[in-house]
Amino acid sequence: MNAQDIQARFAPQGLDHPAERLGPWRFLRTLIRNPLETWPRALFEERSMRLDFAGRPLLFVMDPAAVDDVLVGKADIFPKAPIVQRAIGAAVGTKSIFTAEGADWRWQRRASSPPFRHGTILGFVPAFAEAAEATARDLAGKGQGTVDIAEAMMKTTFDVIVETMLSGRGGFDIERFGTEITRYFDTIGWVAAYAVLGLPQWVPYPGRKGARAGNGFLRKEMARVVAERRAHPGEVPDLLDFMIAAKDPETGRAMTDAELADNLLTFVVAGHETTALALTWAIWLTANAPEVERKVLDEVASVAGDGPIEASHVEALVYCKQVIQEAMRLYPPAPLIPRISTEATTLGEDQIFANMPVYVPVYAIHRHKRLWDEPEAFAPERFRPDLARALHRGAYLPFGAGPRICIGAAFAQIEAVVIFATLMRAVRFTPIPDHRPMPTTRLTLRPEGGMPMTVARR
Ligand code: HEM
Repeated sequence: MNAQDIQARFAPQGLDHPAERLGPWRFLRTLIRNPLETWPRALFEERSMRLDFAGRPLLFVMDPAAVDDVLVGKADIFPKAPIVQRAIGAAVGTKSIFTAEGADWRWQRRASSPPFRHGTILGFVPAFAEAAEATARDLAGKGQGTVDIAEAMMKTTFDVIVETMLSGRGGFDIERFGTEITRYFDTIGWVAAYAVLGLPQWVPYPGRKGARAGNGFLRKEMARVVAERRAHPGEVPDLLDFMIAAKDPETGRAMTDAELADNLLTFVVAGHETTALALTWAIWLTANAPEVERKVLDEVASVAGDGPIEASHVEALVYCKQVIQEAMRLYPPAPLIPRISTEATTLGEDQIFANMPVYVPVYAIHRHKRLWDEPEAFAPERFRPDLARALHRGAYLPFGAGPRICIGAAFAQIEAVVIFATLMRAVRFTPIPDHRPMPTTRLTLRPEGGMPMTVARR
C-alpha cells in the first residue's frame, strides 16, 4: 500500500499537527477545541520535547527508555500530575483509586483487584458475548441503516460493566448516564486551558454549570447504588461487595459511602468508555481494510463456528486480538499520561527539576517515526505474538505501565476480543463514503461527532 493510500484509508481527517509552536492565543483556542491538535509534529519525531507555557516548562517524553523510567523505574518520584485532579477530581473525588497516591491508593487498588483475576475474567465471557449478541440483533434489525457505532459500543460496554462489576444491579438510565459523562468531558479543554494559564478552579467557563449538574446526577446515582447494596449485599460478591468489605491493612479503616461512590463512578466510567472506543476504532479500521476483515471472519468461523464465543475460544482468537491491539496503537483510548516530578532527576539527556510536569503522549509514541514502520498504516501483523514480544514496554502502552497500569487491562482485552468477534461475524459494517473521523481528546480519544457507519445483517 502506498503512503497516499494509507493516508486516505486510516489517517485522521483534517488533523494537521503544527510544524511550529502555535502562538499563545491560537494555542489556547485550539486547546479548548481539541488538545490533540496542539501537539507539534516534533512529538512524532523527537525523543523528547520541552515546551514552555506561560513561563512554566513541561517535558513530553517519547523515548521508550525514558517513558519506562517515568512510569516504572522512577514511578515513586513521578506521581500523577495536578491536571489529573483538576480534570476529574470534581467527578470522581480526589482520593479515589484513580486519583489517590501512596498508601491511600495502594489499599484501594488491592481492595478492588479480586474481580480482575484471569480466572474470574474468563467467567465473564458469557456476559461479554450476550451483550454483543444483543447489540448485533439490534444493529441487524436496522436494515441498511446508518448507525453511530460509538454510541452502540458505549451501550454494549456499559451493559457489560453493570452486569459483571455490579451483578446487573444498577438500575441505571444508560442514555442519561452517557449524556452527562459527555457533558462533563466536553469541558475538559477549558479545564486544560485554565490549568495552563494558572487560573484558579472557581473561575467560570462555558458549560461548567451543566457539567457540574450532570456530575451531581452521576454521584447521586452512585450513592443510591451504594445505599441499596449496604441494605442488600450480593450473594456472590462482586466489585462493590469487595470494596465494601475491604479494610486498609495499615489503619484498619473501611471505605466511607462517599469513597465507595467515588470508586464506583471511577470504575463505571473508566471501565466502559475506553473499551467502547477501542471497539469503535477497531470496527472502523477493519471496515476500511477488506483483507483484515476476511482474516477476522475466517478466524472466528474456524474457532467458534456459528455458536457463541466461549471462554475456551479466547486464546485461539489470536488475530482478533491483534486487530484490537493495532487499533489501540493508532487510536489509543487514553492518549496522554500526565505525571509530575517530586524531585530533581534526569531522563536520558533531559534534566528534570522538582515540580516539573512530565507528560507521556501515548498517541504520538504509537505513531512515532523512529519506533514504527509506516506508522500510519493499519497492520495487525505487527502484533503477531512473536513480533509483539520484541516491542519495548515504553513504545506501546495503551494501558499505561508500572504500578498505576490499568487495573482493567486484561478484562478490557478479553472483553473487546469477544465483542469484536461476535459483532464482526453477525454484522457487515460499511464506512460512510468520504467520511473520515476526526479524533478529539476529551481525556479519552473520541471520534468527533460519533462514528456513523452503515450496518447490515451478514
Ligand atoms: C481499552 C480499554 C481501556 C484502556 C485503554 C484503559 C487505559 C487506562 C490507562 C492508560 C490507565 C493508567 C492511567 C495513568 O497511569 O495515569 C488506566 C487506569 C485505570 N483503569 Fe483503565 N483502561 C481501559 C479499560 C478499563 C476497564 C475495563 C476498567 C475497569 C473495569 C478500568 C479501570 C481503570 C482504573 C480503576 C484505573 C486506575 C488504576 C490505578 O491508578 O491504580 N480500565 N486505564
